[in-house]
Amino acid sequence: MTPTSSDSTSTPVALEARGLGHSYGPREVLGRIDFAVRRGEFVCIVGPSGVGKTTLLRCLAGLQRSTKGELLVLGERVTAPQPGVAVVFQDYSRSLMPWSSVLHNVTLPLRANGVSRSEADRRAREALTQVGLAAAVVHQYPWQLSGGMQQRVAIARALAYNPTVLLMDEPFASVDAQTRADLEDLVLRLQHSLHLTVLLVTHDIDEAVYLSDRVVALSGSPATVADIVDVPLGAERDQIETKGTHEFAAIRAEVHGLVRHAATSGSGSGSGAEA
Ligand SMILES: Nc1ncnc2c1ncn2[C@@H]1O[C@H](COP(=O)(O)OP(=O)(O)O)[C@@H](O)[C@H]1O
Ligand SMILES: [Mg+2]
Repeated sequence: MTPTSSDSTSTPVALEARGLGHSYGPREVLGRIDFAVRRGEFVCIVGPSGVGKTTLLRCLAGLQRSTKGELLVLGERVTAPQPGVAVVFQDYSRSLMPWSSVLHNVTLPLRANGVSRSEADRRAREALTQVGLAAAVVHQYPWQLSGGMQQRVAIARALAYNPTVLLMDEPFASVDAQTRADLEDLVLRLQHSLHLTVLLVTHDIDEAVYLSDRVVALSGSPATVADIVDVPLGAERDQIETKGTHEFAAIRAEVHGLVRHAATSGSGSGSGAEA
């Protein structure tokens, strides 16, 4: 598929990387990265371990200054974290504070941003309900919960910001297969009900195809966009039915081909692509 293909060109762009590059000292990790995510889209970034996915996500979140190019959020050029953009990190066990209750974990960042105690409490409880956690859990500590429940807390913490854009870095990498499937479906439901724009990083190609409207494949060193693959599987996804279709298998094979090529070609295979 062509990298420029996209569904509705009239939908505003939520997030855009223009010639984004990043180097750690002399080592160039990201080359020239170009892509855009439209409002309400679900886009996954796939690529082999070490290609630079986390680096890219951190740059897009404004947590790390890119060393080249620019980042646009809702059409504005930005260099710092934006209020409409929330992040869920990979390692929930390190991103949650073990000495604070579930409720406090969700309210603390809001309080730090000047939200009143009662409003933070209300938003936190609402977000915890949205991720399917029972009211009884709010006064427990993260270490008393299963991995899947801890990741739900981390998602609730992001939702409590009322974000427009949700960025997620391998959010389901540390949970078992059934929990992972449940969390994937939870995020799909939340995306629809809250009209979120989601950009999710994963090395799991099945997960990327299952969740996405489009998949951005990174390749090379420094990494560039090898291709952007459309995933026209409809809005309703089902873990068994969707994954059993010929369309799913064909798209999965296409993305596998891109990533395998990335793994074997070593460097500079991508030429950058616009969306
Ligand atoms: N803070 C850092 N300082 C120096 N090198 C780093 C840093 N963070 C990541 N890297 C290197 O950049 C490359 C890309 O890392 P990362 O973005 O974490 O890749 P991925 O998330 O795709 O596994 C890796 O080779 C990694 O070792
Ligand atoms: Mg990573």
